[in-house]
Amino acid sequence: MLILIIAEAALETIPKELWSYHSIRKHALLKGKKAGEILLDRGYHHSAMIKLDNAEKRGRPDLIHISLLEATSTPLYIEGRLEIYVHTITDKVIRVGQLVRLPRAYYRFEGLMEKLFVKGKINSKGSNLLELSDLSFKQLISKIRPTITIGLSTIGEKNTFEEVAKELAKYVKPALVVGGFPRGHFSKAVTSSLNALYSIHELALQAHVVIARMIYEYEKAIYK
Ligand SMILES: C[S@@+](CC[C@H](N)C(=O)[O-])C[C@H]1O[C@@H](n2cnc3c(N)ncnc32)[C@H](O)[C@@H]1O
Repeated sequence: MLILIIAEAALETIPKELWSYHSIRKHALLKGKKAGEILLDRGYHHSAMIKLDNAEKRGRPDLIHISLLEATSTPLYIEGRLEIYVHTITDKVIRVGQLVRLPRAYYRFEGLMEKLFVKGKINSKGSNLLELSDLSFKQLISKIRPTITIGLSTIGEKNTFEEVAKELAKYVKPALVVGGFPRGHFSKAVTSSLNALYSIHELALQAHVVIARMIYEYEKAIYK
């Protein structure tokens, strides 16, 4: 069973310090929701977001949508051999249940996430599809207790997709950590919980490309 953690993901509702901004109030009015019930999105909230801490890492829920679509479409996930968590930049954790079929249209994913942030759970036929908790990265690792936790970053030690997959495949319950942010690097709070940090390409790739390729290599490593 591989555990995929999308860490410090740029997925959150609009933080309180931005609620009084004119552009935010206007957007909330347009959506017919409270500002705190809307996803922070750089596409709409760019000028209001500038002063936020870690602004360059925040407000890109679309990156998480595409990453989750990639991960949940793989044979590994469909066969029940991939567990997925999204740890957000504001220390919330979304546990993605087994056999979840996420909406492919972004506007529907956005609505689903907004509902999850309000209700804390999305259920279907008695099972939890998505579950939200307040957990730091370190707390998440203590809770799921992987046998090894490997992070990927352009500033990690040089390696390849194939070799990292082979290393993960040696363990019973390995965790793979990919950043869910558009720019910047993992904070110390994340790197201090990793056993290794690898760079697997000379280019800075999109998280969804890294996820798709790593899962493919991991499948090859365990099915051979
Ligand atoms: C858009 S990148 C974040 C950009 C960041 N500057 C970086 O270089 O890692 C999103 C995530 O994809 C993964 N990633 C992208 N390119 C990578 C590479 N060449 N080696 C290892 N991980 C990579 C990392 O986990 C990263 O946090």
